[in-house]
Amino acid sequence: MTQDELKQQAALRALDYIVEGSIVGVGTGSTANFFIDGLATMKDRIAGAVASSEASAKRLAGHGIRLFDLNDVDQMPVYVDGADEIDASLAMIKGGGGALTREKIVAAVADKFICICDATKRVECLGRFPLPVEVIPMARAQVARQLAALGGRPVLREGFVTDNGNIIIDVHGLQIADPAAFETTVDGIVGVVTNGLFARRGADVLLLATAGGVVTYE
Ligand code: 5RP
Repeated sequence: MTQDELKQQAALRALDYIVEGSIVGVGTGSTANFFIDGLATMKDRIAGAVASSEASAKRLAGHGIRLFDLNDVDQMPVYVDGADEIDASLAMIKGGGGALTREKIVAAVADKFICICDATKRVECLGRFPLPVEVIPMARAQVARQLAALGGRPVLREGFVTDNGNIIIDVHGLQIADPAAFETTVDGIVGVVTNGLFARRGADVLLLATAGGVVTYE
């Protein structure tokens, strides 16, 4: 099975978690795109969706799924999204697509974070995937120095601007022993908007697509 087929399997399994009549929080990326396409098959049974990026909003709207502004939503049973890495405690690195800030905000409103991944994303220790950090542009050099002092190798994501008008610094060479503590440390650097560690609030459910089928962790 190809990696895309595995992503699709995990994504379609997440449809089992959708609460009829509810507003669904929707992530960003290729796995989330498979989820959006699956959600379209049951669009008449949901109220609509909140998107975590302009790209996902466009795809949802293309399927005729009603979009809600997060500020008009006070309750959302589930948020469904992929990840770049996920560990045994269901802490994640996200933001490979650069949507980490809105992803973290939408996920914060949801009761449950359902993570959909192919098996390559499961790791023992987070950090092999470079940690994305969204930064206010004028703070680029200052933040890069602080990230280097924490032991990483900061690399500017060239030619990329987030949906919020900021830049992304990808931090290479990390081995993150305590993801929640490191998330707090990086968020504490002046000029950082968000970092791609989702550890203080990790996933509640992982749907991991393997060659043998989709395995559920919770
Ligand atoms: C985007 C993300 C994505 O969830 C992450 O990059 C995984 O992407 P994909 O499903 O394409 O492998 O965090 O900001």
